[in-house]
Amino acid sequence: FNVPVPKNEPVLSYAPGSKEREEVKKMLETLRSAEVELPMVIGGKDVFTDRKVRMFPPHELNHTLGYYNQGDSSHVEMAIDAALEAREKWMNLSWQHRASVFLKAADLLVGPYRAKINAASMLGQSKNIYQAEIDAACELADFYRFGVKAMSDIYKMQPASTPGIWNYNEFRPLEGFVFALTPFNFTSIAGNLPAAPALMGNVVVWKPSKTAVYSAGVIMEVLREAGLPDGVINLIYAPGPTVADVVLTHPDFAGIHFTGSTSVFQGIWKTIGNNIEKYKSYPRIVGETGGKDFIFADNTVKIPELTTAIVRGAFEYQGQKCSAASRVYVPKSIWPKLKQQLGEMLSTVKMGPPEDFTNFINAVIDEASFNKLKGYIDRAREDKDAGVIFGGKCDKSAGYFIEPTVILAKKPNYVTMEEELFGPVVTIYVYADEKLDETLNILDTTSVYGLTGAVFSQDRYNIEKITKRLTHAAGNFYINDKPTGAVVNQQPFGGARGSGTNDKAGTLFNFLRWVSIRSVKENF
Ligand code: SER
Repeated sequence: FNVPVPKNEPVLSYAPGSKEREEVKKMLETLRSAEVELPMVIGGKDVFTDRKVRMFPPHELNHTLGYYNQGDSSHVEMAIDAALEAREKWMNLSWQHRASVFLKAADLLVGPYRAKINAASMLGQSKNIYQAEIDAACELADFYRFGVKAMSDIYKMQPASTPGIWNYNEFRPLEGFVFALTPFNFTSIAGNLPAAPALMGNVVVWKPSKTAVYSAGVIMEVLREAGLPDGVINLIYAPGPTVADVVLTHPDFAGIHFTGSTSVFQGIWKTIGNNIEKYKSYPRIVGETGGKDFIFADNTVKIPELTTAIVRGAFEYQGQKCSAASRVYVPKSIWPKLKQQLGEMLSTVKMGPPEDFTNFINAVIDEASFNKLKGYIDRAREDKDAGVIFGGKCDKSAGYFIEPTVILAKKPNYVTMEEELFGPVVTIYVYADEKLDETLNILDTTSVYGLTGAVFSQDRYNIEKITKRLTHAAGNFYINDKPTGAVVNQQPFGGARGSGTNDKAGTLFNFLRWVSIRSVKENF
């Protein structure tokens, strides 16, 4: 039968006095004082250990949100065993039943669990309500609903049959288990990476980021309430290397669904290569990794639009989106006006905890990130090739707060024009108007990554020229828009070069990676 035609979940406003605002405020209070203890979930059972790890909001270091139970390699083995035990029944279940679980989960996420998944992301990952709503509630529901649609579209892809002959594709799940390794920055990605292979009939071992355990626990709660059978997705909290050692050397390891840093992904790929003889099949490797996303403007731009794109593209969620703009190329003739408007807009931006809904900027995720960002900012202050023109204050007395910071680079290959910082720091390089082509070449040759990018121009010839010239510099390319905020089913998301395998999250292209097709021919 046909699945419901999905629509993107509308984003609620959370305007003062709205019902949703009251609900999430109440939930924030509840979660703040709950001191939860989160178990791992293996084979459908809550698993507790002796090692309790404290959870706290990145914006309020002294407040304890609760604890999670950390496992060791024996728990990883348990999770693999539980997955393999569930496999036979789950893969033989008709797809409509698998779909029901995730459609139900989507309804729960934007219904009774909306306030909880948002509040857990706000407290655990320091997201303001808007950033939580577009991600944890809406995008995750979209991933599940459009995932079901992609799944049903795949099952319809059948070859031709001829008189006396049946030909058909059997969309087998992979032979083994899939490992989902998920990031802190999007609750929706954390929820989607284990779900996509599971929808296609696979069983999964899921390790979320240690800095997003709270929302991962809520996702698991939702999936269980939606009727996910035991052992299909097993949630483990254990150090990355411990998990990887067991998972990547297991003969039944069949694939990895990853979002995280380029270096970790490359390390995983090498480990898989080194163990290749051990596996039954060549594992599917699907990953979205780093970015050094750009905005390129010419001298025909509308400056207010460009200003908004820089502020939103670089600083929403503290620049911790893999898609965040982190280097901007601006022609000299518009720079004075742009600088003035940037300064005006940034002076209105408020920073603080997300419990105060007027704060646009919250804290960065952890101390390592804070120290790394502060290091780059301090260096830019002293460097003869750069300078800090806006922001730059870093204060970790209450939480990991870094002001939205603009660095001006005097050279197009200055270190912060090339290295991924992953925080609220953007670098601007001002080029001579007549050197547009030369600057485009520099941009492309320094694009070791290839995730997102944007061009701003009102000149059709330039738009076309720049779009063509930068064909491989971004997997998601925006014209007169910020490079963040891809919407499921509208801008399929993913990049190539150092940014990943570009399998386009939430689309049929991604779902096809989680099946291994058997072609069957029958004479009758
Ligand atoms: N989908 C997000 C964005 O486009 C990144 O993962 O911002």
